[in-house]
Amino acid sequence: MMATVVPPAPVREDLSPFPTGPGTAAGRYLRDFWQPVALSTDLAPGEAKPLKILGEDFTFYRGMDGTPVITAPGCPHRQTRLSLGTVEGNDIRCLFHGWKFDSAGACLEAPGQGGTLVQRTRVATYPAADHHGLIFGYFGAGEPPALPDIFGFSKKYGRDMENARVHDVGTYRRLCNYYINVENVLDLAHVPFTHRLSSDPTVTEVGFSASVGVVRDITIERSELGIKAVEVDADGYPTEAMVILPNAMHLIVGQRDGYLEQVAWRVPVDDETHLSFQVTTLHTDEPGAERYWAYKERQGALIAKYPDTEICAEQILRGEKSLRDFVDHPLLVNIEDHVAQMGMRFIADIGKENLAQSDKGVIQLRRMFMSRLADYVSGTPNVVHTW
Ligand code: FES
Ligand SMILES: [Fe+2]
Repeated sequence: MMATVVPPAPVREDLSPFPTGPGTAAGRYLRDFWQPVALSTDLAPGEAKPLKILGEDFTFYRGMDGTPVITAPGCPHRQTRLSLGTVEGNDIRCLFHGWKFDSAGACLEAPGQGGTLVQRTRVATYPAADHHGLIFGYFGAGEPPALPDIFGFSKKYGRDMENARVHDVGTYRRLCNYYINVENVLDLAHVPFTHRLSSDPTVTEVGFSASVGVVRDITIERSELGIKAVEVDADGYPTEAMVILPNAMHLIVGQRDGYLEQVAWRVPVDDETHLSFQVTTLHTDEPGAERYWAYKERQGALIAKYPDTEICAEQILRGEKSLRDFVDHPLLVNIEDHVAQMGMRFIADIGKENLAQSDKGVIQLRRMFMSRLADYVSGTPNVVHTW
């Protein structure tokens, strides 16, 4: 009797969390949420810049009254980059032939052209807003949801970010797929090893508390918003890490001065690079806050000694340097995470992993993320936008 050959299950390329370009399943999922695209301070009034997010190019500028505007990358006339243009009031005038567009995308002037052309010409614009020191953009279809209520979220989970003594905002670029860093949020077992150097008070000035440097069991909690991992049996402040689907996170982690509470996003630039944006607070006392800001002030000169952190990480990955060469780098924690995650490189290898007991948060997250993607593919999105 002939053996029945069962064909392998088709590879659902569209169900991968990794590609986020236009039309991909994960790309549609992420576009359904506000995404931070820059620090608010990255763009001064009257400034225009190119922007790349989710594998797509855009232009963004800030009107003279401070309003952030995101548009399609090219001018509707001959498609040169609109970011080369000049901001006039809250409008932008193209460098090439001077066509001018308002912040809603309407053409206001096209020098030397007829009036009907002006009336029917538009550049696409996308909702944009400053929120918690970040510029957010919305790239989905239809009306955007409410902006994430970070302080309300913190209160809902028994914390109080709003009244923490230190508030800070930051960003970094990492040369790997965003999803690797989303999963990393729930991988608490990496901390004692990946961050061995930066957790050592004999090596670095501020950083994780000693209690962070111990591998502990975690409990996993599921909610409609995502997956949360909480350390069991921690002394001091147990680490709590939650992925707020699809690509945001909330973190509580002990510091030498009190504890840190952070909300962050991992935002794809393209499929091999992402940006992280962090709204960070430190729950500490007055001396702890002073130490934080004094250290931060000294950081500038130290950081200037080195190339960007992702370049430092590439030097280590090529074997030219080691983490020990960066022990006085104020962003050593980042470099440690860079090398571990950039070392994983790209997800083609995801099937080669051997997920274990300490990966239960990662496993749960992957299931939930994939089931949400399947909902997108089937046309029945099942998402919660409100934090
Ligand atoms: S390309 Fe912009 S005005 Fe001609
Ligand atoms: Fe880390």
